[in-house]
Amino acid sequence: MAKLKFGNVEENVVTREEFPLSKAQEVLKNETVAVIGYGVQGPGQALNQKDNGINVIVGQRKNSKTWDKAINDGFVPGETLFEIEEALQRGTIICYLLSDAAQIALWPTVQKHLTAGKALYFSHGFGVTFNEQTGIVPPKDVDVFLVAPKGSGTSLRRMFLQGRGLNSSYAIYQDATGKAFERVAALGIAVGSGYLFETDFKKEVYSDLTGERGTLMGAIQGIFAAQYEVLRSKGHTPSEAFNETVEELTQSLMPLVAENGMDWMYANCSTTAQRGALDWWKKFRDATKPVFTELYESVASGKESQRSIDSNSKTDYREKLEEELKELRDSELWQAGKTVRSLRPENQKPKQDTGNQEQNTAGLYKKTVEKTESVN
Ligand SMILES: NC(=O)c1ccc[n+]([C@@H]2O[C@H](COP(=O)([O-])OP(=O)(O)OC[C@H]3O[C@@H](n4cnc5c(N)ncnc54)[C@H](OP(=O)(O)O)[C@@H]3O)[C@@H](O)[C@H]2O)c1
Repeated sequence: MAKLKFGNVEENVVTREEFPLSKAQEVLKNETVAVIGYGVQGPGQALNQKDNGINVIVGQRKNSKTWDKAINDGFVPGETLFEIEEALQRGTIICYLLSDAAQIALWPTVQKHLTAGKALYFSHGFGVTFNEQTGIVPPKDVDVFLVAPKGSGTSLRRMFLQGRGLNSSYAIYQDATGKAFERVAALGIAVGSGYLFETDFKKEVYSDLTGERGTLMGAIQGIFAAQYEVLRSKGHTPSEAFNETVEELTQSLMPLVAENGMDWMYANCSTTAQRGALDWWKKFRDATKPVFTELYESVASGKESQRSIDSNSKTDYREKLEEELKELRDSELWQAGKTVRSLRPENQKPKQDTGNQEQNTAGLYKKTVEKTESVN
């Protein structure tokens, strides 16, 4: 593994130059990688490995839409697609990619097939770190490690097909065979990671739960809602409030941040905008820091994991989540967003197809909705 400096801090990383795909193929040539679960991460990781020449099989319960999806994606029942228990028995590396709640329910079955020398692979530190809540305690004679792609399985696949890669973290919890590093690095490259950075199971889950509750999803929605509500209460139209809160950020500014950092984005805005942003960002940092601290403590105490296990283990968990997502979807903020997105030139029909403007806009709406995918 290579050592690279991030700011002044040196970290262990695995890059594609140092650990090329040919090396990953060599390390994994005698392994059967069983991807258990074909939800969001399952397809991305299994298909990328398959296209990278790794001997991969999928374990999925039968008679489900998900089983059919695996067939549509090219996995063949009896050859590369099996019921979960058969895949567990055939696999030498078990990629445990069921939902975190399902991992608890299926653990006794998985445990039965973890014979000496096999490897147990996760994409999250959740199950092992919170083992007092999950009951997931791996046997001592298997390797246990994780590769956690920092993004959706959908993005992992898309970026792979574009010749790009999604960054992932990796961690080794148990090295029973002496080959855990080679195995985890090879898997990380084979699933389509850009580069891999080192962590441990606890840090992975603490940072992941904090990130998704924080800036990645929870905090960002909170900040959007707060600014939008203030603008609306001061008489601004939904169009103006949405464009100044979300559209400009996602369409114009964040791509610049992604390209070259926040400083560069600032430098490429008006001096009026720069002055204001430089004056105000620390105020927002100071106002939100106590909330982030409270959030981190809630994660570290096990409160967040317990809440997630309790709610996602209920039989009607999908319906309950859908109710809350509907509230978000129906809010004026995101209804305004739907209209704004439909007006993006790239979402408009070619001119020759346009007849009646009203009809056209309705058609665009449909297209936008149909394009929506699960992203996490
Ligand atoms: N979502 C992401 O992009 C993402 C990103 C990074 C890390 N991760 C981690 O990757 C792992 C997998 O997450 P995911 O989001 O891909 O999972 P997911 O989509 O929620 O997992 C769904 C899979 O679990 C199966 N499943 C659910 N309940 C089951 C049960 N009781 N018995 C048997 N199978 C059951 C589903 O089968 P059916 O369709 O038949 O129900 C499906 O194959 C998790 O550890 C997660 O934290 C996920």
